[in-house]
This record gives sequence, C-alpha cells and structure tokens, in this order.
Amino acid sequence: MTDSPISQHNPSKSDSPAPEEDASPQQKKQMEAAYQQMKRQMAMKKIADEISHKIMVLSGKGGVGKSTVATGLALSLAEQGLKVGLLDIDITGPNIPKMMGLDGMRLHVEEGRIHPNIGHSGVKVISMAFLLEDEDTPVVWRGPIKLGAIQQFIADVEWGILDHLIIDFPPGTSDEPLTVAQSLPDIDGIVIVTTPQEVALLDSRKSISFAKTLNVPVLGVVENMSGYTLRGTAEPNSRLQLIGPGGKKIDVEADGDGDWSAILDIFKKGGGERIAMDLKVPFLGALPFDPGVVRGGDDGVHRIVADPAGDSAKAFAKVVEAITEQLSEEAESGVNII
Ligand SMILES: Nc1ncnc2c1ncn2[C@@H]1O[C@H](COP(=O)(O)OP(=O)(O)OP(=O)(O)O)[C@@H](O)[C@H]1O
Ligand SMILES: [Mg+2]
Repeated sequence: MTDSPISQHNPSKSDSPAPEEDASPQQKKQMEAAYQQMKRQMAMKKIADEISHKIMVLSGKGGVGKSTVATGLALSLAEQGLKVGLLDIDITGPNIPKMMGLDGMRLHVEEGRIHPNIGHSGVKVISMAFLLEDEDTPVVWRGPIKLGAIQQFIADVEWGILDHLIIDFPPGTSDEPLTVAQSLPDIDGIVIVTTPQEVALLDSRKSISFAKTLNVPVLGVVENMSGYTLRGTAEPNSRLQLIGPGGKKIDVEADGDGDWSAILDIFKKGGGERIAMDLKVPFLGALPFDPGVVRGGDDGVHRIVADPAGDSAKAFAKVVEAITEQLSEEAESGVNII
C-alpha cells in the first residue's frame, strides 16, 4: 500500500491521524473523514493492483439477464482454471447468492477484513445480500449513505490475487456504476446485456452512452433470451411446417435420422447485433431463451454447470471467448475501445 501516491502525503504509519492540539471539533471531524477517505483510496488501489481484469455488467432495462450473464461469465472463466471473483452491487435486489447456491450465507470477517464466500468452481462471491438479516426486508439506504456504504464495502473486501472480477449491478444508469467506476481504478470494460425487444434495445443505447460518460470502455453487447430452440422427430428427410410466434410459418426439414430443430424468435432476433453495429461497439454473441436457465437460477446451479454440453453452455462459451478477445485486444492496443 505504500506505493500509493496518497501515502506520500501521510508518512505516518499510525492507525489514526494526529490532529493538531488546537483543532476545533469540526476540524478534527474533517481530518478524520479525509483520513478515512485516503485509507479507502489506498485499499481500492491495492484491490485494483491485485485483480488483473475488472468487468462491469450493466443493462438499461431490468430483468434482461444481467445477473445470469454475470454468474455465467464468472463460472465459465473459473472453469478455465482462472481465479475469479463475483461482486453483487445490487442493494435492493441482490440475486447472485441464490444463483450461486450461497443463499442465506453471511459475511465472514477476519482481522477487520471481509472474506468472500466460495461458490461453484471456486468463484469468490461478495453480495450485499450477505449483509441482510432478513431477505424479505428491502434495504432502503439512499443517496450518499448508500454510495458510501458501497465504497466502504468494496474497500474492505479481501479478494486476494484474482484474474477476473465480475461486477453485477442493478438496472439502469444509476449511481452505483458511477460510484464503482470512480472509486475502483483500472476497470477494463463494460458488458451490456439486452434482450431483443425494442424497449430493451432503446435502453441499451442509453447504457452505451452512459458507459462513455463513465469513461470506461464498452467490451460489447450480449443479446440474451434470443430465440428458443424447438426439437422433434419426424419421417427421415421429410419437410414440415411449424407456426411460430405471431403466426409466422417456419419450414423445417428432418435429417436422415428423422431429427429436426427450429429456432423460434420469441422476442424477435438480431436487435442486439444491430445496436452494436450502429453504435460501433463489439457484438459479443447471443444466448438462447432456455427455461433451464430459470430453473438453474432458482436452484442455485447455473445452466452451464448443470448442462455443460447444452445449447446455453455452448452459446455462453462463445460469449466468454469474445469477451476474452476484447480484453486482449484492449491490452494490445492500450487504448479505449469505445
Ligand atoms: N437466457 C435465458 N432464458 C430463460 N430465462 C432467462 C434467461 N436469462 C435470464 N433468464 C431468467 O430471467 C429472469 C431475470 O434474469 P436476471 O435476474 O439474470 O436478470 P437481471 O437483469 O439481473 O434482473 P435485475 O434487473 O432485476 O437485476 C430470471 O428468472 C432468469 O432465470
Ligand atoms: Mg440482477
């Protein structure tokens, strides 16, 4: 921590400042606040130095699958043998513990530092939910109190050395991502999750311009719930017609074994790729609509863990590959990719 520029202004190693004898109570309070702020900044810098990649997961609209994508991303990277942390910044609706099978866990504090709980594949998890005594009682912290709590919370976590930290947020262009982007140095980029409906896409445009105001690169857009694969059997090599959503006719052909499959675009398709092209940010891939994802989220076993050979896991692997590619391009070019 001594390499922090801040420490140059405070050579004292004692745990509290030494206010001047004649300082007024008001001045002492200000000095104490400044000292605490400095300690927090030093802790943030240490965390930033120890974690190679920090990725924020955002969406303009709620319920599009941010937490599912953040969890899947963390698990996929951990499955590759990397050291991964998952930070759930959603104070009002923290869902990550449930999705990671850590429901009901509490914070583990040792020597004044918060230690993450360990989920599937060794992913280190920190969530505001670990602070809640009762899951049904919402947290009503507002404004500066909430943001101060988030800063404090991040600064006090002992992550250790990590390859990746994935940070999940509440929906929208709220204060939380702004606070994290301003307090945690060297964030690599933002993954924006959308669904293919126009309303979600419209909000994703806002997220992309929000990322620019945060001055954090956009790693790209993921289109979630992007088509449902229907499968069946028929006479080998026969043709059949399905009636899809909105009465749309879908022609399918059974293969030599009689197996056929068709993708139903429940919420349209391709919108995520279009806005990515329009706004000149990378498209990271599409994840199918999969009822198993809902079950997995509820049961605390992510779809990619429960069915590693399934369509969702394969689609996830492609998205993770695209993100990894963006991270290495960013590292090579050394410039922001907005
Ligand atoms: N690809 C998918 N197929 C089917 N259901 C999905 C898919 N992705 C997410 N879901 C389901 O949609 C619901 C919302 O997902 P999730 O909680 O990840 O969204 P969110 O964007 O984090 O929501 P919030 O804005 O409230 O934080 C969950 O029940 C989840 O299981
Ligand atoms: Mg969420």
